[in-house]
Amino acid sequence: MKSLAQVVLLYILCGAANGVPATVAYTPEIVPTKIEGRITQTTVALEQPRCVFDPIETSCSNCKIWLIVANSTGVTKFAEMKNDFLNTSDLTYKNAFTGPNGFYFTVKTERDVYVCPPTAIPGEILALRVGSEVPCKTPNCNMPLPTGGAFRMKYVLVNPDLTTPNIVGETRFTQEIQLRSAPDPNSIDTYPGRRTGGMVVITVILAILLFLLLAMFAAMLAFVCCRKSDQTDFPAPLTTAGSLRQYHTHSLHNPSGAIAQKANM
Ligand SMILES: *[C@@H]1O[C@H](CO)[C@@H](O)[C@H](O)[C@H]1NC(C)=O
Ligand SMILES: *[C@@H]1O[C@H](CO)[C@@H](O)[C@H](O)[C@H]1NC(C)=O
Repeated sequence: MKSLAQVVLLYILCGAANGVPATVAYTPEIVPTKIEGRITQTTVALEQPRCVFDPIETSCSNCKIWLIVANSTGVTKFAEMKNDFLNTSDLTYKNAFTGPNGFYFTVKTERDVYVCPPTAIPGEILALRVGSEVPCKTPNCNMPLPTGGAFRMKYVLVNPDLTTPNIVGETRFTQEIQLRSAPDPNSIDTYPGRRTGGMVVITVILAILLFLLLAMFAAMLAFVCCRKSDQTDFPAPLTTAGSLRQYHTHSLHNPSGAIAQKANM
């Protein structure tokens, strides 16, 4: 077993020297479940590659950390191509799924941005959101991923000064990450229009208040009508100066027609 470990170590060291990327024993992680929107229709929140590449290529301060996003074809393609020079400017999102490659380079980051150990406030999670660049401004833009697609992702260390094999380090690929598909309302838990318990309670209270208001209004109407029909005295009509017309102030025969009656006189 000891000799096997030595062989593996030798392979990694020699491999790096011969242009085969050194593999670090790290698999990018999706941020914990408590983070909202860790996987959406078009984005995935990964943990940042802090400390991950620190042990390798220590003298390469110009090296950049990139993210590779691949579909299942792209995973195989990358494995075939990684020992040659890869032109990151050609392997973009736009070219990834139109050509034969099925993978692309994005989120180029200076090595020292991922400070090790992380300087985060305890409890804060340092995430890298894949698919968050809207609108797309950079050449290797981090464009929203195709809705409902399935992808695997890994970080790589690229030495931009090499025109020979330039991928000098790589992590493992994530498991396949299945993005959410658009029209399933059960899976959309961040939809702003969802009905919360509070909203239901408020709606019920408003409905009850409205009912009470209508009931009061109906009661008032009934009360006014009943009083009206019991009434014997009508308010005295306005008399204009010079008007000597006769009128009934006590109309017991046809109270509801009293006004019309007066008009007909
Ligand atoms: C990489 O590709 C870009 C765009 O196609 C091109 O301009 C550049 O010269 C290429 N770089 C190398 C080193 O081949
Ligand atoms: C991955 O992308 C390539 C390139 O566009 C495409 O040919 C292939 O069918 C895709 N594979 C899957 C599994 O979607």
